[in-house]
Amino acid sequence: MITSSRPVRVVQWCTGHIGQISIRHFAANPTFDLAGVYTTSAAKDGVDAGLLAGIDPLGVTATTDKDKLLALDADCVHYAPLQPDIDDLEALLRSGKNVVTPLGFTFPRPDDEQTVRLQAACQAGGTSFHSGGIHPGFAGDILALVGSRLQSRLDQVVVTEVVDFSDAPSSDMLTAFGFGRDPEEAHRTHRLALDVYSQSIGLLATGLGLTVDRYECGLTVAVSDSDLTVASGVIPAGKVAGMCRRWEAIVDGRPAIVFQSKWKMADDLTPEIIGGASRYIVEFLGEPATTLTVEAKPSGGSVDAGRTWTAMSVVNMIHDVVAAPPGIQTHLDLPPGKPRGLFH
Ligand SMILES: NC(=O)c1ccc[n+]([C@@H]2O[C@H](COP(=O)([O-])OP(=O)(O)OC[C@H]3O[C@@H](n4cnc5c(N)ncnc54)[C@H](OP(=O)(O)O)[C@@H]3O)[C@@H](O)[C@H]2O)c1
Repeated sequence: MITSSRPVRVVQWCTGHIGQISIRHFAANPTFDLAGVYTTSAAKDGVDAGLLAGIDPLGVTATTDKDKLLALDADCVHYAPLQPDIDDLEALLRSGKNVVTPLGFTFPRPDDEQTVRLQAACQAGGTSFHSGGIHPGFAGDILALVGSRLQSRLDQVVVTEVVDFSDAPSSDMLTAFGFGRDPEEAHRTHRLALDVYSQSIGLLATGLGLTVDRYECGLTVAVSDSDLTVASGVIPAGKVAGMCRRWEAIVDGRPAIVFQSKWKMADDLTPEIIGGASRYIVEFLGEPATTLTVEAKPSGGSVDAGRTWTAMSVVNMIHDVVAAPPGIQTHLDLPPGKPRGLFH
């Protein structure tokens, strides 16, 4: 735990899109001091972190040597690999480094084996662990919870994620989501993503004092009538080019909280998924009926608002997380956040 005003010494774990945004931020924000960078890539081993992030050299090189980073004197690790490795997370927490991550541990179940291991590691290292991200991690949990403070009655909370993937480069993630597959195959795999969203729904429900009886999921897939050329390639006519995944938290027999993810490669699909730009919409049905929308300004200058939101929703909590007592710290445990150094 640190309380002084010295810069927080941070390690960036992995240098993908989110990692690079974070490295650029750590370089620009005087309240951070980039102490180390982990990479899985032999080609990036020994390369300056600034160069990996598309800026001037920073004098900190990326390394594939985990032990070197575990031995480093640092306050916090921003953990942003493709997928989590619980052994690594445990080792980092036990080594005395707090960890923040957008990897979906938004509201871990206390009896889950991974949760037990992470809690024990936090206690052993005197460290804290926090998970955020734009969604899961922000729009459907902390934003919705804070927004609910404006309501005098709630009948339902509906959180809608709209992501236009037409500009996204080809990736395993797009295939894993089901784009380009047969509609039947997408139907077979759509429950895979429930866990991370159910943690966010669970956090919101707990914050609102609700007990969720069960979750229900649904999937609508949409296709293009003709071959669709997008940044990731060509989606043949009749293959999945859009989808709406819907999760409902049933409380007292009715869907009290609804999350829906509307992901599309085009607006003109059958059936239509939704029009317009990527955005996050939180609708409060009740008194008064209220809508909150998070959307990048078209002329705002950011080419990658969604990933910047993801990285910064986590990085901006680092000062609060290093000051927090040991243990897993969810949005229900931490203050709403006191970002430092943003006016740089
Ligand atoms: N909660 C949210 O709202 C939200 C939103 C977006 C993304 N995310 C999550 O954030 C993480 C990072 O996203 P991203 O856009 O930066 O992804 P990305 O561009 O694909 O980068 C992931 C990085 O992970 C490393 N990596 C490669 N293979 C790996 C493997 N087999 N195991 C572990 N790490 C591997 C690589 O870094 P090196 O080359 O340095 O090794 C790679 O660049 C992902 O897990 C993603 O699911 C969360």
